[in-house]
Formats: sequence, structure tokens, C-alpha cells
Amino acid sequence: MIELIWAMDENWLIGKDNALPWHYPGDTAYFWRVAKDKTVLMGRQTYLSLKTIFKDKPLPFKKMYVGTTRSGTYDDAVTVPSVKTFLENTKEDILVIGGAVIYALALPHADRLHVTYILKAYEGDTHFPRFDLSRFKLVSKRLEPELIFAVYERIKP
Ligand SMILES: NC(=O)c1ccc[n+]([C@@H]2O[C@H](COP(=O)([O-])OP(=O)(O)OC[C@H]3O[C@@H](n4cnc5c(N)ncnc54)[C@H](OP(=O)(O)O)[C@@H]3O)[C@@H](O)[C@H]2O)c1
Repeated sequence: MIELIWAMDENWLIGKDNALPWHYPGDTAYFWRVAKDKTVLMGRQTYLSLKTIFKDKPLPFKKMYVGTTRSGTYDDAVTVPSVKTFLENTKEDILVIGGAVIYALALPHADRLHVTYILKAYEGDTHFPRFDLSRFKLVSKRLEPELIFAVYERIKP
């Protein structure tokens, strides 16, 4: 099972200066409820962004894969030189946690999407890639002030 989780504003913005453009405690809590103790895949920029937040503390995932085309290794993560090849071949359950580049590569493989819609427009530099949501069906929806938490599953052919 390949799942994606992200939060985006009404213009599909997801990032600014390699951080989130906003701070919604409700969304942060939701992210960690879904992602804690999961095997996750992210791009190097998102990994660096999370390391900045956690400083010396370990990131609370079961296992981390980090997409990077650079040589080198990380103490706490497995590097993935080709995200496309990785997703085509993995047998593990993977939660894809960003950013834009990695979401774009993962969308064709996605079985489930966790989308937080932020009902405002922010300033930033990174957007979620446009894709065809009609291939997915809504399976749950929850509202909080300024936020909609939606979960979609891919429609089986
Ligand atoms: N709102 C949200 O839910 C959310 C979630 C996650 C992230 N974000 C935000 O998104 C922004 C970061 O996103 P981003 O798109 O700039 O970066 P990213 O997707 O996190 O990482 C991009 C990096 O992935 C590596 N990469 C790219 N293609 C690859 C491939 N085919 N195979 C293996 N590795 C590959 C490259 O690393 P090398 O340069 O090392 O080759 C590239 O620099 C930040 O602002 C972050 O806060 C938002």
C-alpha cells in the first residue's frame, strides 16, 4: 500500500523556504497520528526540513527512505537514488511525506491520499503537482476551523 499525506492551501501551495508556510496545530497533530511509527519516503529537502525542526531528537518514524541523487549515507535513513525504481519495486507499506518532487513521482502508485485542505491563500514557493482526483473516491472527511481533512482511495478498475 502506497499512501501520500500532505496539506495544501487553496492554490495547492505546500511550502515556503523549505518549511511549511503555516502553523496549524490541528494539522500537525493529524500528520503525526497518521505518520508516527510508519515507514516513510521523502525527498532530501523535506528530510532536511524535518531535521531542522527535530534538531538532535530522533524522527519518530519506523523507518525512513530519503530520495537523493547525491552519494553519501545518513545514520537514520536509507537513501533512495531512484524514487521511481524504488516505488515500482517495493513490497513495503510506504507513506510518502513530500515534498513536491517526490509527490509527483509517487502519485501514479498511490492507493490512498490524506489531504488537508487549508481554506486560505498563503505565500510560498512549492506547490503540490496537479493531478486527476477523479481516479480516487472520498472515503472520509472531517472539518476544523480553516481546515478540511479528507481521505481518498484509488478507484479499482
Ligand atoms: N505541506 C506539506 O504537506 C508538505 C509536506 C512535505 C514537504 N513540504 C514542503 O515542500 C518543500 C520541499 O519540497 P521539494 O519539492 O522542494 O523537495 P523534496 O521533494 O523534499 O526533495 C527534493 C529532492 O529529492 C531528491 N530527488 C528528486 N528526484 C529524485 C528521484 N527521481 N530519485 C531520488 N531522489 C530524487 C533530490 O535530492 P538531491 O538534490 O539530493 O539529488 C531533490 O533535491 C518544503 O518547503 C517543505 O516544507 C510540504
